[in-house]
This record gives sequence, C-alpha cells and structure tokens, in this order.
Amino acid sequence: MCSSMKFKVVHELSSPYKSLHDNYVSNRRDSSRLTSLLLILGCLTILGGLLAIALVEKVRNQEKIDEAVNPNHTSTHEPVQNADQSCLGKSRIVLVESIPYWMDYGSNATFGVPLYEAWKDLISTATKQIDVSSFYWSLTGQDINVNSSTDKPGRDILEQFKALTKRNVSVRVVASIPTVASNSTDLRTLKEHGVHVRRVNFGRLTRGILHTKFWIVDRRHIYIGSANMDWRALTQVKELGVVIYNCTSLATDLHKIFQSYWVMGQQNATIPDPWPSSYDTSINAEKPLHVNLSGVPSRVYISASPPVFCPDSRTKDLEAILSAIGQAEQFIHVAVMEYFPASKFFFHHRYWPVIENALKQSAFDRNVVVRLLVSCGRDSDPSVLPFLKSLDALESSSDNISIEVRLHIVPVANQTDIPYSRVNHNKYMVTDKVAYIGTSNWSADYFNTTAGVGLVVSQDAVHSSSPGDTLVGQLKAVFDRDWGSKFAVPLEKLGHNPDCSFSKR
Ligand SMILES: *[C@@H]1O[C@H](CO)[C@@H](O)[C@H](O)[C@H]1NC(C)=O
Ligand SMILES: *[C@@H]1O[C@H](CO)[C@@H](O)[C@H](O)[C@H]1NC(C)=O
Ligand SMILES: *[C@@H]1O[C@H](CO)[C@@H](O)[C@H](O)[C@H]1NC(C)=O
Ligand SMILES: *[C@@H]1O[C@H](CO)[C@@H](O)[C@H](O)[C@H]1NC(C)=O
Ligand SMILES: *[C@@H]1O[C@H](CO)[C@@H](O)[C@H](O)[C@H]1NC(C)=O
Ligand SMILES: *[C@@H]1O[C@H](CO)[C@@H](O)[C@H](O)[C@H]1NC(C)=O
Ligand SMILES: *[C@@H]1O[C@H](CO)[C@@H](O)[C@H](O)[C@H]1NC(C)=O
Ligand SMILES: *[C@@H]1O[C@H](CO)[C@@H](O)[C@H](O)[C@H]1NC(C)=O
Ligand SMILES: *[C@@H]1O[C@H](CO)[C@@H](O)[C@H](O)[C@H]1NC(C)=O
Ligand SMILES: *[C@@H]1O[C@H](CO)[C@@H](O)[C@H](O)[C@H]1NC(C)=O
Ligand SMILES: *[C@@H]1O[C@H](CO)[C@@H](O)[C@H](O)[C@H]1NC(C)=O
Ligand SMILES: *[C@@H]1O[C@H](CO)[C@@H](O)[C@H](O)[C@H]1NC(C)=O
Repeated sequence: MCSSMKFKVVHELSSPYKSLHDNYVSNRRDSSRLTSLLLILGCLTILGGLLAIALVEKVRNQEKIDEAVNPNHTSTHEPVQNADQSCLGKSRIVLVESIPYWMDYGSNATFGVPLYEAWKDLISTATKQIDVSSFYWSLTGQDINVNSSTDKPGRDILEQFKALTKRNVSVRVVASIPTVASNSTDLRTLKEHGVHVRRVNFGRLTRGILHTKFWIVDRRHIYIGSANMDWRALTQVKELGVVIYNCTSLATDLHKIFQSYWVMGQQNATIPDPWPSSYDTSINAEKPLHVNLSGVPSRVYISASPPVFCPDSRTKDLEAILSAIGQAEQFIHVAVMEYFPASKFFFHHRYWPVIENALKQSAFDRNVVVRLLVSCGRDSDPSVLPFLKSLDALESSSDNISIEVRLHIVPVANQTDIPYSRVNHNKYMVTDKVAYIGTSNWSADYFNTTAGVGLVVSQDAVHSSSPGDTLVGQLKAVFDRDWGSKFAVPLEKLGHNPDCSFSKR
C-alpha cells in the first residue's frame, strides 16, 4: 500500500532546502492570484461584471493549461505567507463534540455542535481548497471488517470528500506512516477522485507518528480536535474540538504546519535545521493573536510538536501546556484520553514527571484545584493506575490541597464488536484563564517524537457577564457536565466494570 503511494518529484531546485520546495503549486498560485484577481474584480464590477467574470475564467483556464504543459512551472512565492495580525470578517469559534451513540446523559445536558454537522458545514463552505491532516483515514466499517450501520455518517463524509474536486475545490491530505488503518482504501479512493495525498514517514523521520488532526478550509476557517478521519469518531468515540470561522491569520499560521508535513511527505525528505524563515510564525505564547472570537476579546495561538518540526518562533506543545498550568490561579481541569508520566514507546519505562510536577506544584504552592479526567476503555493500559492513585492520594482538605482523579468510562453497551471504540478520546484542559484544545495524549513520547498541535485561547471568562458565551466558559461547562456525570468514576469507586480494563486487576 505504501509503495503504491509514490509521488512524483517534478522539479529540482538548487536551494539548500531542496526538499522543502514542493511540486504542488496549483493551490498557492490559485490563492495568491485569486487575491489579486479579487482586487481587479472589485474595480471591474463597477465597469461591468460580465467582463470581469470572463476574465477570471480565462485566467483560471490559462493556469490549468500552464500546469498541463509545464509541470515544472512553479510559483515565485514563498511556500507559506506570513500571517498578518488580523482576521478577515467576523471570526466565530464553535465548540464541537461527538458523543457516542447510546450514551445517556439525561434530558438537560448541553453539548457542543455535533462533529458530523461541523465537518459537513466546513465541506459545504469550501469554495477553493481544503487541507486535512489526520493520523489515518478509515471512514467505512468494512476497513475493520465491521458491519455496523453506525458507519453511515463516516461513509457520507468520504462521499463528500470524493465530490469536492468536482466542485473545483482542491483537496490535500497528509496522513501518517506508520498507520493503524492498514486495510483502509480511503486514501486510494481519494486519489482516484483527484485528491492530493501524501503520507509522511514519521517512523523514519522522528520514530514517532503524525498524530495531528486538523482541517484548513479556504485558508480562512480551521478545525482542530481529537477526531481522526474515522467513522467511529462520529458515532462510537467521544471527541472534542473547535472550528474557527473567518480567521485568515490563524488559518495561514496553521497552514505553515500543514506545509511542513506536506514537504516532509516527499520521498527521502530530511528535516531541515533550522526550518526556513517562511515557516516562522509571528503568533505564539509571547505574542498571541488578539482577535474577537464570537464577539469575545481573545488571545490565541497554535502550539506544535515534535520540537524538531518547530522553528524557534513556534511555541512547543509541551510549553503551551506547562504555561497554561503555571498561570492558573483557581482551577485546572484536564480531560485526556491517556495520561502517563513516563515514556511508553521509544524510551520504554523512562520516568517523565514534567506535567505531573507542574500539576502538583499548582496544587501545593498555589492551592489551585486540580481535576484530572482520564479515559478508561477496554484497551487502556492499566499500568497507569498506580500513578493516578498516587496523584489522587495527595488530596487533603486540611492542607488546602485539592487534586482529584476520575476515570471516564464510556459504556460499551451492545457495541461489543467494534474495536478501539467506546472511549473518551478528548484531549483538552480548561483553567480559569485559558482553554487548551490539543491532539496529543499526555505522555512523554507525544511531545518528543509525535506530531500534534494545540490551540490555546485566553479569555477573561471568569469576569465575563455571560461566561456561557466564551469558549473558556463553554469548555468548563463541558468538563463539569462530564465530571458530574455517571460516566466519571472516582478511583475508589471503581468496582467491577467490564468496560474499563483497569477494573480487571
Ligand atoms: C522539468 O525539469 C526537469 C529537471 O530539471 C527536466 O528534465 C524536464 O525536462 C523539465 N520538464 C519540462 C516539461 O520542462
Ligand atoms: C465570514 O464573515 C463574513 C462577513 O465578514 C460573513 O458574511 C460570513 O458568513 C462569515 N462566514 C462564516 C462561515 O461565518
Ligand atoms: C434539569 O433541569 C431541571 C429543570 O430546569 C432542573 O431542576 C434540574 O436541576 C436540571 N438537572 C440537571 C442535572 O442539571
Ligand atoms: C485486515 O484484513 C485482514 C484480512 O481480512 C485481517 O486479517 C486483518 O485483521 C485486518 N486488519 C484490520 C486492522 O482490520
Ligand atoms: C450487515 O448487516 C445487515 C443488517 O444488520 C445485513 O442486512 C447485511 O446483510 C450485513 N452485511 C454483511 C456484508 O454482512
Ligand atoms: C470547474 O472549473 C472548470 C474549468 O475552469 C469549469 O468549466 C467548471 O464549470 C467548474 N465547475 C464548477 C462546479 O464550478
Ligand atoms: C530515495 O532513496 C532510495 C534509497 O536510497 C533511492 O533508491 C530513491 O531513488 C530515492 N528517491 C528519491 C526521489 O530521491
Ligand atoms: C473587539 O471588539 C471590541 C468591541 O466589542 C472592539 O472595541 C475591539 O477593538 C475589538 N478588538 C479587536 C482585536 O478586533
Ligand atoms: C493514546 O492513548 C491511548 C490509550 O492508551 C492509546 O490506546 C492510543 O494508542 C494512544 N494513541 C496513539 C496514537 O498512540
Ligand atoms: C486554607 O485556605 C483557607 C482559606 O483560604 C485559609 O484560611 C487556611 O489558612 C488555609 N490553610 C492552609 C493550611 O494553608
Ligand atoms: C444496540 O442498542 C440500541 C439501543 O437499544 C439499538 O437501537 C441498536 O439497534 C442495538 N444495536 C445492535 C447491533 O444490537
Ligand atoms: C526525546 O528524544 C531525544 C532523542 O530524539 C532523546 O535524547 C530524549 O531523551 C527524549 N526525551 C524524552 C523525554 O523522552
């Protein structure tokens, strides 16, 4: 399968960063030309709309012809443009969630926008270009020999992606080598439908995986969240993410990260050191983007891992998490699929107390209330349980130390034949200051070898007159909903539960 996915390298460049230049130029040119065309268009509309439209079509056709006859034809623009510190139009931020079927929260629980709706909306909004990064694609049940009608939304998303190129929306996809979706034909099918696909060999590059999950639509809207392009993410796995509409600067910034994967998806690519300046960012923890999101004044930036994929100016994902923990004054609420204060894969059994220490220090030194909601499913690794118990044991009301751990258990119900599902896949943190929405498990390997991103949003939710209107307020409500639900089990109350592997011990 891997060997059938070779990509043509169509031009040679003398730059020291040869591997960074890529043969995929149509989008860039489209968008930069389009920008100037829009300007022209604006003027010409006054003189006569028809003339303008004819011109656009003519230039577009000329581009297509150029490309067909001259595959070496390449843009003189940098592969990535610098973000200006603004967003076009009115930016909106929307919390999106996927709640597994047959998980009953009772009648008055509130939820984010369903992930399936959010994805459909982004697809229908697209007019020019969609770039997607996902660990893997597996949008039909047959990929894993499962016959379940709950794969219908997944199939539908796959069909909609196949139809995008017919709408002249150019689609690029990056996925990981190694992969877990060895039987999936999604990527091949997408290629047959004109989607540009690259698989990035993180196994070779960093001995990790590409675990990032995000979409960039028309260089204007973005999605970041826990969900892979997997049918189970829509109906069988609990997911959380955000969509930001109408923020060109963040989309341009995220595009730099996409572009770093894209160029590393070329055969034999090697990681540049340092990354060329075009990958630098002007938006980071020190200089976040100031923008009104859904009308709320916010400071936003995107963090990334692994460090070897980040220019100096990019805040590393681990730094973003530590800084959010360090700034909290009242509470730190964490919901992660996996929390593990050690290296699990690469340096097996190496203790890694970096996040652990930051959490304990917040609880000890600043009396911040720490709550950790960790997933437990049928496939979870029980070796983390003693670590969780040791954190939980620090709770002491007489010393004003408040650390509590609960296990989030999604009932398997009658869905027993669907592997690697019925689990809380969320990866976020909310404090009295920030919302952090990421794609990584909280264990050493994810921040060292594995590609992931985090979105950090600071808003003054605590003092807001209507905290429900802020992302930070909404995320806190989601955490509180789950923490107080029957699905969050205090460690000492974990009896026999076949849906959680920890309870078998
Ligand atoms: C593209 O570039 C390669 C290498 O420089 C060259 O061999 C080839 O002839 C060029 N193709 C076209 C169509 O110009
Ligand atoms: C983006 O902003 C424009 C106006 O600035 C608005 O018309 C459009 O509906 C917005 N798009 C989305 C998806 O919110
Ligand atoms: C559900 O709504 C009812 C009526 O508004 C309220 O009394 C009750 O406390 C709510 N339950 C929860 C769990 O929020
Ligand atoms: C892939 O298909 C083979 C043959 O049907 C099967 O043995 C294997 O378990 C499948 N792998 C996955 C990940 O479903
Ligand atoms: C899948 O299940 C449906 C009903 O649950 C059944 O009608 C169909 O024949 C099954 N398909 C396969 C390939 O087993
Ligand atoms: C796509 O582009 C082609 C060539 O520019 C044009 O003929 C066609 O009408 C476009 N299709 C759509 C759906 O916009
Ligand atoms: C990549 O490396 C392999 C093995 O060294 C070599 O055979 C192949 O030609 C290289 N491909 C490119 C595009 O450089
Ligand atoms: C955000 O909106 C307020 C008004 O609600 C306005 O005064 C402020 O300039 C806006 N900030 C940005 C960065 O657009
Ligand atoms: C994240 O953690 C879960 C739980 O241990 C694990 O099953 C999963 O493989 C991890 N994700 C990846 C991509 O390794
Ligand atoms: C705990 O907090 C309360 C209220 O802030 C304070 O009065 C008390 O002295 C604190 N106790 C310790 C041991 O820090
Ligand atoms: C599982 O249970 C739900 C709810 O009771 C039901 O709608 C569904 O058909 C069942 N699915 C299977 C595979 O039994
Ligand atoms: C991260 O990876 C480097 C090698 O790439 C290794 O030297 C270092 O010990 C690793 N750190 C952790 C925390 O695993």
